[in-house]
Amino acid sequence: MTRVRPVVAIYPGSFDPITKGHEDVARRSLRIADQVVVAVASTVSQAKSSLFDGEDRLAMVQEVFQDDDRIEACQLDGLLVDLAQELGAQFVIRGLRAVSDFEYEFQMAQMNRELWSGAETVFLTPDQQYAFLSASLVRQVSRLGADVSRFVSEPVLRRLQQQSGD
Ligand code: PNS
Repeated sequence: MTRVRPVVAIYPGSFDPITKGHEDVARRSLRIADQVVVAVASTVSQAKSSLFDGEDRLAMVQEVFQDDDRIEACQLDGLLVDLAQELGAQFVIRGLRAVSDFEYEFQMAQMNRELWSGAETVFLTPDQQYAFLSASLVRQVSRLGADVSRFVSEPVLRRLQQQSGD
């Protein structure tokens, strides 16, 4: 009898911090994958100013998904395609909120395929209530004292509150 190989997806990002929009995309991925590995980039692109260090971002992701053992988290230190191959991931998941996301996402998907011909990217749209949500907006409004409890889960909220109390 042939054993069916589990479908593994890798969901990479900066997750600075993970929002309910990211969470929604990760959980939706389980409709097409048996297992999802959320890969938290240890360095955030220089164009963005990071709020949390890699360790904190990874810890938040682990805490947010501790209710579901089909979703794991790990650090992404090098190339995404290398980690994807190491994990035996069949595809990369990325969230697509609006047309404005498309150009950047398209470039990354193509570059990943240049680097590894096996790289397939699947784009998922989050629930409509999160279509406007981004980690950078959460960082910004939280820094200015707004209530962000609608946008992030408890482990993230706690750390954001700690940050503003520092
Ligand atoms: O949440 P972000 O910042 O849009 O995520 C970008 C991320 C982490 C997915 C991307 O920068 C990445 O894949 N980094 C790992 C290094 C790599 O493989 N770079 C080439 C991507 S084309």
